[in-house]
Amino acid sequence: MYFVSKTIRLKDGRQALLRSPEPQRDAAELAAVLKTVCGETDFLTKGADEVNLTVEQEKAWISGMNDSPNKLSIVCEAEGKIAGMCHLAIGGTRRSAHRGEIGISLLRRFWGQGIGSAMLDELIGVARQKGLCYVELKAFKNNTRAVALYEKKGFVVLHETPDAQRLPDGMAQTELFMRKTL
Ligand SMILES: CC(C)(COP(=O)(O)OP(=O)(O)OC[C@H]1O[C@@H](n2cnc3c(N)ncnc32)[C@H](O)[C@@H]1OP(=O)(O)O)[C@@H](O)C(=O)NCCC(=O)NCCS
Repeated sequence: MYFVSKTIRLKDGRQALLRSPEPQRDAAELAAVLKTVCGETDFLTKGADEVNLTVEQEKAWISGMNDSPNKLSIVCEAEGKIAGMCHLAIGGTRRSAHRGEIGISLLRRFWGQGIGSAMLDELIGVARQKGLCYVELKAFKNNTRAVALYEKKGFVVLHETPDAQRLPDGMAQTELFMRKTL
């Protein structure tokens, strides 16, 4: 799916653009941003060393998202750079087509500026347009910023999985499965 570009205002007054990623223009930067984000936080499912997409693989991923009828990717462009990305993936079978899974990841220097909130609103809007019944996501319980954002937007915790992920220092992370009914 393609996203109709939209300008948003950040909390500090700057403007940013939400738009679909473009394979030629964005693949190298998007791959680098993903690797950086994974290195900046323990709240994602991979460490930076586990993210090694080539530019060609990233191009293929972007095209796959844009061309798919049930997948959507949106990047946020701020100061001419990609600040982060989000996605919606609608269930791929007839039996799961009423559910959509979402994810958001932003570079740390853009946290707390309202981008996550704006992205979530857009993903929920598209999910509604597509007639979905639920949007769902997984988040680590100690990711207080993310969980606060999701709860504010109406997501509730359906269940939690203790020891879902172990950090390099051995610390166990509890994963929440959250759902918003549309
Ligand atoms: C989690 C994430 C997507 C949130 O996006 P964001 O742009 O930083 O969040 P926003 O600025 O839109 O803030 C939204 C809400 O989060 C909450 N929030 C913001 N800062 C917070 C903080 N320091 N502590 C707790 N809650 C906080 C508030 O409820 C805020 O709403 P408000 O501005 O009306 O008070 C982003 O920080 C991020 O990408 N983090 C790293 C990757 C990640 O954790 N992804 C989510 C995986 S489930």
